[in-house]
Order: sequence, then C-alpha cells, then structure tokens
Amino acid sequence: MCGIVAYKGQKNCYPILINGLKKLEYRGYDSAGVACITEQGKITVTKRSGKVKQLEDVLKKHGMNKKCIGGIAHTRWATHGRPNQINAHPHIDESATIVLVHNGIIENYDPIKKFLKSKKVKFKSETDTEVLVQLIGYFYKKGKLNFEQSVRAALQRVDGAYAIVVLNKDEPDSMIAARKGSPLALGINEKEFFVGSDISPIISHTQQIIYLEDSQMAVIKNDNYEIKSIDKDISLPKIVEKIDYKIDDYDKGKFKFFMHKEIHEQVDTISNSIIGRTTEHNVILNGLLEYWSQIEASDKIFITACGTSWHAGLIGKNLIERFAKVPVHVEYASEFRYNRTLVDNKSVVIAISQSGETADTLAAIKKANDYGAITIGICNVAGSSISRETDCGVFTRCGHEIGVASTKAFTAQISILYLFALKLASSRKQISKSAMTAHLDFSSSLRKVRSVLRKENEIKKIALKYKNASDFLYLGRGLNFPVALEGALKLKEISYIHAEGYPAAEMKHGPIALVDKNMPNVFIVPKDMTYEKIISNIEEIRSRKGKIIIITDSKEKILKDLAHDLIIIPKTNHYMFCVLATIVLQLFAYYIAVGKKLNVDQPRNLAKSVTVE
Ligand code: M6R
Repeated sequence: MCGIVAYKGQKNCYPILINGLKKLEYRGYDSAGVACITEQGKITVTKRSGKVKQLEDVLKKHGMNKKCIGGIAHTRWATHGRPNQINAHPHIDESATIVLVHNGIIENYDPIKKFLKSKKVKFKSETDTEVLVQLIGYFYKKGKLNFEQSVRAALQRVDGAYAIVVLNKDEPDSMIAARKGSPLALGINEKEFFVGSDISPIISHTQQIIYLEDSQMAVIKNDNYEIKSIDKDISLPKIVEKIDYKIDDYDKGKFKFFMHKEIHEQVDTISNSIIGRTTEHNVILNGLLEYWSQIEASDKIFITACGTSWHAGLIGKNLIERFAKVPVHVEYASEFRYNRTLVDNKSVVIAISQSGETADTLAAIKKANDYGAITIGICNVAGSSISRETDCGVFTRCGHEIGVASTKAFTAQISILYLFALKLASSRKQISKSAMTAHLDFSSSLRKVRSVLRKENEIKKIALKYKNASDFLYLGRGLNFPVALEGALKLKEISYIHAEGYPAAEMKHGPIALVDKNMPNVFIVPKDMTYEKIISNIEEIRSRKGKIIIITDSKEKILKDLAHDLIIIPKTNHYMFCVLATIVLQLFAYYIAVGKKLNVDQPRNLAKSVTVE
C-alpha cells in the first residue's frame, strides 16, 4: 500500500528520499514521486508511474539539486484514479505553494471537490489527495490562516483516513506531518527530521522515533518541532521511543527474494517466538499478565484478522478449543467490524496482524474495545497501531517481514497461539502437568524445521513440474484445513494461479467437479485420527484422474501408490506438523512463481499492509 518518506535537514535530500522509497517498495505500489524544496522556496516535483528505479533514473538525468533543505516522497497504490503519472504523489495546489503526500482515503472528497470547483479551483488529477492539498491551499490563500492553521482547518473538514506530509513554498523551513487512521512515524536526529509511513525508510538514520497518535500532527520549523493536536491548537507531550532494529532485516543477503530469505529465517523466527516464554511445564506471556485473570475467566473468545493472519486464527481456534475447551469464534475483521456481534465485556477478542496496521483489523479491535471486551494483539510490529489499541498482547518477534506474501509471521503467529492455548488450558485446569511438559518440549521439533528446509531441491523439482497448471486444490482436515487455505493463498498471491483450499472431505460437495487429469490436488496428510479418512478422499480424486501431491509424515506404501508426488516430513506433534507442512507449501508456491519468472516479493495488485478499508 502507499508509502511515505520525508526528510528535513541539511543533507542532500534526494538520495535519502530515493533510498527511503526503495525501503518502502515491499508495501506494493504502482507509481512514485518526490518533491523537494530549496532554501529560497523553489519546489521541484518529479513523478513517474512504474518503479522507483524509473523515478531515480529521471532524477539522475536531470540532476538532484543538492541545495534542497526538505523533501517529501511517496509510493502510490492506486485507489482513486488510475495508476499514472498525473495521479502519482506528491500533489501540489493550483498556486504551486503547498505540496503534499498522502496515504489513506479522503472519503468526503466529492463534496469538497464540488465546493472548491465552485470557487474556481482547477484540478489536474483524479485523486482524493489533490482535493486535500487544494483545500489546504484554499485556506492558506484566503490569507487569514497561517500554514499550520490552514493544514489544521483542512484536516478538520475531511473524513476518512490519512497520513500526510506537507511543505509550503513560503516557509521552506517548515514541514508538517499529520495522521488519522494511517500510521506515521517521526524520526529525530540532531537538527534533522525524518518521516515515514513505517520506520523502514527512517531507521538507518535514527533510532529515536515518535509514533504519531491519531489526530496528532508534528509541526517542524527550523531545528525545532512540536507535537500538536489536529483538533485544537495545543502542544502535546513528545513520546520518543528508542527502536532496536537489525540491519539485515532490510538486506536480502544471499537470497534473490525476501520471501525466500524469510522462509529460511523460520529456523530462528519460530524459536524466537517461543524462547523465554516457557518453563518446563508453564507458559509465560508477560504481555498478558495484567489481564490474565479476566482472560482465563472468559468463556467467549473471538479471533479477528485478515488473510494469512486469519488462517492463523483458524489454527488458534482449533488449538484453544482442543486444549482449553473454550469456544472460539473466528471472523474476518472486515466482517467483524460491521456484523452484529455477541461480543461483550466478558469476552476476549484476539486480533492477529503481522503489520499491526491492517485497517479492517484495527477497526474490529476498536469495535471490540467499544463493547468492553479484553482485547489482545498478536502483532509483529512493535509500536504498530493494533499493538497500541489493544489492552495487552504478545509480539511474534520475527523481525521485519518484507515479502508481500507472509511466511515467517504466519508460523510465529501459530506458535504464539499454541502457547496461548496451552497457558489457558493450564490455568483452567484442562491439561495435566505431564502433558504440559510434553507439549513444551520443543527441543527436537525445532530441529525439524531445518530438515524440512533441506528438502528444498526436492520440493523445487515437484513445483516446477506443475508450474503451468491453471487451477489447484489444496486439501486438509482439522488443523490442516487452515494450512490448506494458506497454501492456496500463497500460490495465488505470487504465481497468479487459481487455487482453493478446502476441508478434504468437503471437496466432494462441489469442487470435485473441477477435477480432471490436468488438475493438481495437494493433500496434507498427517498420520493422525483423520489419516484413513483422507486416504479415502485421495482415492476419490485419484479415480477421477486428478494429479495427487501428498505432504505427509507417514512412510506407508499406500501413499506412495496414490501420490504422483510425495513429500515426507519428519514425525512430530500436531502443532509442529502444521508448521512443517506450511513451510513445504511456502517453498512449493515460491518455486512455482520463480519458475514462472514472476516478481515474488512484489506481486501485482498486492500491498504488504492494507491500510485502507
Ligand atoms: O498485516 P496483517 O497480518 O494484518 O495482514 C493481513 C493480510 O493482509 C495479509 O496476511 C495478506 O493476506 C498477505 N498478503 C498474505 O500473504
């Protein structure tokens, strides 16, 4: 989704902004642009549709003015108006005084546009963003309001979500950043300021970060800044956080794609999500401590999330119901936020989100807060909106995930849900001490992640065999039904092949009509109580000549006879089986996409964090 980076200071802004845009590429975008201002107030706007590289080439050709003292830059993921150069940001008002970049959506852009047109304001683009910059310009030009007051007046009149950074030709030494609904971080260094829609373009310059809260603006003038309210002209406290980060999160290292790197990182990320959170027969989730007595007493748990995180939620439901025996309702956040709900002040609502910024999940959590529920965030990004809006939470600790297709975050989410389910089971006396000890012994299971990754070449060969298929079915039962959904989603996202995940037995209630000799069917087959049943489901497809790919921990001959391709993973427990099968499916999707020569990290139309509704 759209990305923002801005800089104010004495260094040449162009390289800072272009490198910042490159750090934001992972979010998904279709055009990019930059506006810089000189000490004398000369603003230069350069925009291109396509990749940041194209923008960079143009800038290199025309020279990057070293005398600029501030700049704003943007990657746009089109919402209102086509993905072309005119609609790309930054946008400038008709008097070429105010220039702005914007993430989010201005919902009431239409009446404002009509109003401005009635005042003879001329528009160039089809975007909602241009309406906002023209509105700021309109207030400013009327002459009664200064820069800050004009920005405030305009923001008070718009509905929707925004994160903006604004420059003014008359005050080259000023920069204003503001947010409502879309995240924005301010980085502070000695006499220089950085703004980012997330910390990725900032963090290599400074680790001193202020996460702006909703309805806050940062007003920067010369070497000083204030945090102020958008609603009233009042100063607010400056809450500066020191953010630790690992530089290699932003480096592909020996890998061609971040997704590939992140699949391999699971050797460490899965254990990171667990380490320090267990003893021999206990789970310690410090982030939930304050609310634990209410959590353990609750008899209604809701899980809400989107996409891959929603799949993790389905696994969480199975684990919590299995171990703790509390009913769990899982709902897409986009539905939860509008559906009638049975959430009340005795409920626990768990929001799962890698980014912690997904607009629907954030709205769902706000709704749960309004109903008085205890809200728990399972997020990867510290300081993210969801981690701050929830009462308590657990971080997945897997480092920055850059590949658009979520991989390491998913396996960390299910590890956290596993720990949560066990802790709840133990608190509610639903599990024996010896069973806890057995579940919490990860010593051998974590090694198995490595052994699955060693199967990479075998998985690659199989994947390449099927790269030209047009449809796939992914089939699993119980805990592995969400794994099937996740495998299908991974394939769709990065290879553009149509794929559906189904409970294996449900397949005969419709999808079986699709099966023919060309259709690959990926079965996830643990040797558990569903084993015999799934074998019958495989037979049903096999007898209709469908291609059978099996992922299993069983070495029985019958599977060899049934499968066109068989991937055997090490024997382990239920939870770890899901993790291992998921890793196989991640690699399978990855190699199909690579085989099709696609851009795995930035699939078409997708955004890494979906910050609009
Ligand atoms: O950041 P979140 O976990 O809230 O994101 C939710 C979905 O947008 C995300 O999982 C999406 O489905 C990914 N592209 C999956 O690979």
